[in-house]
Amino acid sequence: MANYRIAYLPGDGVGHEVLEAARSVLDAVGFQAEYVPGDVGWEFWRKEGNPLPERTVEILKNTDACLFGAITSKPKEEAAQELAPELRDKGYEYSSPIVGLRQLFDLYANVRPCKAFPGNPLNLRDDIDLGVFRENTEGLYAGVEFHPIPEQVSKTLAAHSPKMKRFADKPADQVALSCRIFTWEGCKRIVRAAFEYAQEHGYPSVTVVEKPNVIRETSGMMLRAAREVAKDFPKIELRDTNIDAMCMWLVKNPQDYGVLVSSNMFGDIISDLSAQIVGGLGFAAAGNISKEYGVFEPTHGSAPKYVGQKRVNPLAAILAGKMMLDWLGEKEKGERIEQAVAQVIREAKVRTHDMGGTDTTDAMARAVAQAAAG
Ligand code: IPM
Ligand code: MG
Repeated sequence: MANYRIAYLPGDGVGHEVLEAARSVLDAVGFQAEYVPGDVGWEFWRKEGNPLPERTVEILKNTDACLFGAITSKPKEEAAQELAPELRDKGYEYSSPIVGLRQLFDLYANVRPCKAFPGNPLNLRDDIDLGVFRENTEGLYAGVEFHPIPEQVSKTLAAHSPKMKRFADKPADQVALSCRIFTWEGCKRIVRAAFEYAQEHGYPSVTVVEKPNVIRETSGMMLRAAREVAKDFPKIELRDTNIDAMCMWLVKNPQDYGVLVSSNMFGDIISDLSAQIVGGLGFAAAGNISKEYGVFEPTHGSAPKYVGQKRVNPLAAILAGKMMLDWLGEKEKGERIEQAVAQVIREAKVRTHDMGGTDTTDAMARAVAQAAAG
């Protein structure tokens, strides 16, 4: 009998291949679940004008957690051109389904562990162990954007900010505006999640990665929230580093950092950088979580050019499965997956293309499944 109901959303491109791999490893550790498949991605944008159909959202509402594969997304003009002819010019606008899910289910924490597995030839160093916490529902991803800028918006901003005046004079279609919206609650809960994680996993510090010396109001709010939350965690050091400097330090001295916490856009950037120093996107898993629900995904894209070749490293998806187990409270099974991944990497018998070898997605999944089954 299945204990859990898991929404299964492979999405586009190699999403199918890597989620199958993750599932085989979850089976190997005896995770009992019914997987409920759902439609998401480019195909549904083209056919229905909606990459995240309502029926899929309903599946998520009726499951314990979700495994998510990969998504193809394209800029505005390309997306409009690929829409089925009968749907064109009807006001459909493409927006990323994963970003949609994060906001719809208020999955405010995007958790991205970036730990170097010793022996991985792609590591920058073997002693890197980072936990990246990215705010997942607001900031520059809030979706409050204008082009052309409505006159009223432009005038109101100019009335409240002298700095707006030099933009307000320009023709409306020559100004684009994307709002970076932070809330006090949004800042506090992501910082709290980061501190709780640091405490649970024994990290000595949490570093806020923002730019409060320039972006005073939003980045400033994140830093103030961090100072307040930090009072509840006297044993953990609060550090703050600007996003630009952080990019440099992550290449220079990544071993000096533990948990990093940032807003949506900066968090997106540092999570790719952090992923690359421990092997790249083939190793990078993410959990989009709240207390109520979690969507777990490899952070890589749909890699259309590799579809069907079984070339992609499934470890990111497998580690996403591990994160899902942890979140569901199945920590022993999760730990077995992590140990199995560590063992397969250390033993160096299986190497996917990104690691300089020729082994397939399935070969890697089989090796991990075997090691995890014991
Ligand atoms: C990520 C990705 C997404 C993001 C894209 C696919 C919309 O880059 O999960 O990091 O920007 O959040
Ligand atoms: Mg990203």
